[in-house]
Amino acid sequence: MAVREIKILGDPVLREPAVEVEELDDEVRALVEDMLETMYHAEGIGLAAPQIGISRRVIVVDLRDSDEEGVGPVALINPTVVESGKKADKAPEGCLSIPGMEEVVERPETVTVEGLDPDGNPFSMQMSGLLSRAIQHEIDHLDGVLFIDRLSPLKRRMALKKWQKSRAEEVAS
Ligand code: NI
Repeated sequence: MAVREIKILGDPVLREPAVEVEELDDEVRALVEDMLETMYHAEGIGLAAPQIGISRRVIVVDLRDSDEEGVGPVALINPTVVESGKKADKAPEGCLSIPGMEEVVERPETVTVEGLDPDGNPFSMQMSGLLSRAIQHEIDHLDGVLFIDRLSPLKRRMALKKWQKSRAEEVAS
């Protein structure tokens, strides 16, 4: 197990569609372990493989510290949203690849997600609340989509300007 470097906005790997996992072998299970360790180290609640530079369809989420009934750790291989509820929900989101930025994002409140667990067992769950939001955010990463893409163009421009300024100040200090 190892803590891996988290890729930051601007790294092209974050914009690549990730490749399906065809064989669930020890290498994939080791990747899951590294992703969990990296996520805990960064104090995040979710991580997708492209965020550590691995363009494969693997995500992890752990909500135990952020939600009273928070589930975790959850690791999903080849996860997909198979159904989205009509009702939308708005809540603040952040991303380990855009450190320091937090913006309100609108997403379907309820989704049904399918995939495989690290042992190859089928996973299918209808979810809402923070779990739904976190898993949707991580699945977006597998398609090269970041939460800033879900903001209005104006809000996105403002948020990016502010973020770039704070990054520049951080480097300068
Ligand atoms: Ni993220």
